[in-house]
Amino acid sequence: MEIRNGRKEDLEIIKEISSISLKSVLPMKHFEKYLDNTIVAVEKNRIVGFLTSKKECVMNFAIHTDFRKKGIGEKLIQELMKKYRTIRLRTRENNKNAIDFLNKLGFKEKRRIEQYYSNSDNAIEMEWKL
Ligand SMILES: CC(C)(COP(=O)(O)OP(=O)(O)OC[C@H]1O[C@@H](n2cnc3c(N)ncnc32)[C@H](O)[C@@H]1OP(=O)(O)O)[C@@H](O)C(=O)NCCC(=O)NCCS
Repeated sequence: MEIRNGRKEDLEIIKEISSISLKSVLPMKHFEKYLDNTIVAVEKNRIVGFLTSKKECVMNFAIHTDFRKKGIGEKLIQELMKKYRTIRLRTRENNKNAIDFLNKLGFKEKRRIEQYYSNSDNAIEMEWKL
């Protein structure tokens, strides 16, 4: 498995993985805007996950359903851990999988943001510190 910077030709599959994995469907413009801040996980020439960030803040992050629980999400987060002493991320309060995953990686819950998402779901802000 290789981790590399995202490229223009990856955008379609990044958007597809995002749409399948995350409740908010984001427009292609969003992924184009953050392409320079996107890393992808590649398995046998296939994009299996991506992470988009703005400095130490994770914006979007997902692994293809067929490739979860294989350590790929952890590897993507570790790339940011090499660059920053603090990492922040917001996830839905009801996304237990993500919260369990983040807790395992040493993230701590910082605060709860009421009705953060467009469907009124609350967000939990999680933070990791070196
Ligand atoms: C959350 C997500 C990114 C995790 O990616 P992943 O590649 O499956 O996670 P990893 O295999 O790297 O797991 C790392 C550790 O977290 C644990 N973990 C992963 N998913 C978990 C889950 N659903 N429940 C409990 N623990 C979990 C793993 O067991 C592993 O610990 P271990 O090494 O002790 O076994 C992935 O499930 C996903 O894409 N979910 C949908 C999108 C999403 O919620 N994005 C927001 C992410 S914050």
